[in-house]
Amino acid sequence: MSSNQFAKDVREGLSSTPKRLSSKYFYDAQGDKYFQQIMQLDEYYLTRAELNIFQTQSQQLLDLFDSGGAFRIVELGAGDGMKTKFLLKYFQDKGADFSYCPVDISANVLEELRKNMLEEMPTLNMEPLAGDYFQVLSDLKFQNHKRNIAFFLGSNIGNFRRDLAIDFLSSIQRNLKTGDFLLIGFDLKKDPKRILSAYNDSKGVTKAFNLNLLNRINRELGGNFQMDAFDHNPIYDPMTGECRSYLIAKSPQQVYLSTLDEAFEFKAWEPIYMEVSKKYDLGEIDDLAKETGFRVKKNLFDSDDLFTDSIWEVV
Ligand SMILES: C[S@@+](CC[C@H](N)C(=O)[O-])C[C@H]1O[C@@H](n2cnc3c(N)ncnc32)[C@H](O)[C@@H]1O
Repeated sequence: MSSNQFAKDVREGLSSTPKRLSSKYFYDAQGDKYFQQIMQLDEYYLTRAELNIFQTQSQQLLDLFDSGGAFRIVELGAGDGMKTKFLLKYFQDKGADFSYCPVDISANVLEELRKNMLEEMPTLNMEPLAGDYFQVLSDLKFQNHKRNIAFFLGSNIGNFRRDLAIDFLSSIQRNLKTGDFLLIGFDLKKDPKRILSAYNDSKGVTKAFNLNLLNRINRELGGNFQMDAFDHNPIYDPMTGECRSYLIAKSPQQVYLSTLDEAFEFKAWEPIYMEVSKKYDLGEIDDLAKETGFRVKKNLFDSDDLFTDSIWEVV
């Protein structure tokens, strides 16, 4: 990710009405650390639920994946790969013939993942790729491999606007070949209070995670954002299933970014739209698969039915 692109996106976002910043920029070294803390929080059920699926249904997954022999797992936005590591260890113990290609925009988190995986699985056949998954899909050469299983975990798809989700999934579909799968995690609609508290934790880690992007702008673009002049405000709309996070300016202020030589005005209580985390029901998942050229092969659920890993095949 070039800093020019970052500067361009920040300028565009802070000049828009309403102001917005892209959540893909959350993940600098500090942002990676915050996200790892978020995954440990009591309120953040998503990681535990998806891990539970991998822990309780690993043989079922292996039966699906290796029915045609050797396979390759390509994980888009792998992060620290903690949940996947559990599955890969199981596959190795069972003697499965597979390779693993984690892709992440954060070279920092990818290097941590690489070291960590090889420490526990020295013989793992692994090819990490640092890059933006919107841009590197064609570099992944899906056609040259036996069976590919693309992983898109953690309900990351919920962070996409609907049109972007459709574009992204369609371009995964176009790159995959018949017989390949996409395993995609969806957070399910549930008690709105439970959803909201996952994005508004009592320790304030999610708030720090959001504010860290202002800090990153200060550091990388010579900004003068004051952290205590903004508050973190997530809301959940049960009609759309969207949980949206905002940072809100607590007073009128001006923020200057020296790299851009540009100042941005904030009115009192003006929001910056940071992220959407959409929650799905099974009908919506089915529609999304159909609309992007896939068929739902199987939905796997955690033991509390909070989350599903949906396995899609190319139609
Ligand atoms: C919310 S974390 C989830 C990590 C992991 N998939 C999980 O379920 O625990 C999102 C990860 O996607 C990466 N990411 C975000 N936008 C990306 C992009 N456009 N291209 C590649 N990786 C991206 C981030 O660096 C981060 O590691």
